[in-house]
Amino acid sequence: MSDGIKTICCIGAGYVGGPTMAVIADKCKYLKVIVVDLNKDKINSWNNEDLTKLPVYEPGLKDLIKRCRGKNLFFSTNIQQSIAESDMVFISVNTPTKQTGLGAGEASDLKFIESSARSIAEFAIGHTIVVEKSTIPVKTAEVIKTILISSQKGSEKIPEKSFTVLSNPEFLAEGTAIDDLINPSRVLIGGESKTSINALVNIYKNWVSEEKIIKTNIWSSELSKLTANAFLAQRVSSINSISALCEKTGADISEVSKAVGMDYRIGRHFLKAGPGFGGSCFKKDILNLVYICKLYDLNEVANYWNEVLKINHWQQNRLTNIIVKKLFGTVTNKKIGILGFAFKANTNDTRESPAINICSNLLMEGAKLTIYDPKVKFKDISNSLKNLKNAVNDSFKIEENVCMSSSFEQLANGSDAILILTEWVEFKEIEWLKISKLMRKPSWIFDCRDIIDINHFRESDLNIWKIGFGSNMDNLK
Ligand code: UDX
Ligand code: ADP
Repeated sequence: MSDGIKTICCIGAGYVGGPTMAVIADKCKYLKVIVVDLNKDKINSWNNEDLTKLPVYEPGLKDLIKRCRGKNLFFSTNIQQSIAESDMVFISVNTPTKQTGLGAGEASDLKFIESSARSIAEFAIGHTIVVEKSTIPVKTAEVIKTILISSQKGSEKIPEKSFTVLSNPEFLAEGTAIDDLINPSRVLIGGESKTSINALVNIYKNWVSEEKIIKTNIWSSELSKLTANAFLAQRVSSINSISALCEKTGADISEVSKAVGMDYRIGRHFLKAGPGFGGSCFKKDILNLVYICKLYDLNEVANYWNEVLKINHWQQNRLTNIIVKKLFGTVTNKKIGILGFAFKANTNDTRESPAINICSNLLMEGAKLTIYDPKVKFKDISNSLKNLKNAVNDSFKIEENVCMSSSFEQLANGSDAILILTEWVEFKEIEWLKISKLMRKPSWIFDCRDIIDINHFRESDLNIWKIGFGSNMDNLK
């Protein structure tokens, strides 16, 4: 069923736009799907013959691109033509937290949403359904609508131009994006126009059963996205706060998580203690929630959610303090190996990764870092650490203090400590006895993701510290 929707386009070829459109193209062969971006390099990478060079790493993505690209899925920088030929335009651009001006540090910067809406207003022909997909603060649809409506008034040249706006928040998690898109727990569509809602429902109906598609009003849809992320982040902060208590008392964090999670009212997901949540959504969405609560004078509600963020930051500082303390109170000029820089496994995304804060803290203490991550590039690491320059001193150079390693051996060679910051599955296979021989003594492993099985090297001379257990070997299973 097509509802007259033949061509769709997505503005923004990032972590959300790319995978989402690849799945739609694969499931709706009758549709022509165009993904556009201002960034030429990104579009070139999406079009690269070598599928290992795609700008986004997601398990399963390569196969989809191979199947659909050039058939009914296209990546282009020609925004004008793509919008003009589309019946439905998705907005999937980034909405970073504002750094300056009104709402700095909390409100989202909507400049990319605004410029996308202006492009749609200018180039659309006929009736266009505009779908907001980016994670956005509540009431963003109003901004989009206002821009589209004002363009309608001035567009005497093309009087048949008209728009409806829908909110269809993305619930995919990076690293499992393709699976989340193919088997969503629900699809949320907010809007006023029944016909437009149904047109989008008909796209999803190609692979999602109708009872999983929730139709609602636009504000509920936008707020549901922020709330879902805030609740998930809150669970991570809650279990991380308990990890600290486990380390003090000798309780076993994994047993606590298991016991708590088996209560069906609570559930087992998002109870894994670690170095804190990262990614492009959680912090930004909570900040948005805090900002909107303050706007409505709900200061207690704002403070409540702000604590979730504070615990997250505290967890990272707490880990750094433990590391420095274990290394005799100083890490100056010590070589520290970092395993994993992505904010979680199976993604090359480093946005808001806990590794940024932990590595920054260690660099400020004078450490020399060697980083291994199977998917993250040095360019992205040095970009994430660029604010450090001011914090350390004028002459501080990232290249002189941080290097990448292509093997565990190289990373371990001469290191005083190795930190596991991302739960990449390959880190579970590391032969620690071999690695320990290459390290300077006494050597420490800080397992901040609780992934290594210490039974394999209980007798070794490695010192182990594990999140939620501490370094008392008797506490470790
Ligand atoms: C999240 C939401 O899950 C998704 O629905 C939304 O669309 C975007 O934001 P994402 O940021 O990709 O997705 O990752 P997610 O799997 O939610 O993990 C977020 C962070 O929490 C990661 O840093 C992860 O390591 C951390 N986390 C998650 C834990 O520390 N413990 C857990 O038990 C679960
Ligand atoms: P997300 O995780 O939300 O997908 P990304 O930063 O990965 O965020 O992707 C957003 C993309 O949107 C970027 O590649 C950026 O270049 C693109 N973008 C931002 N504004 C516009 C615009 N006005 N027109 C086209 N593309 C845009």
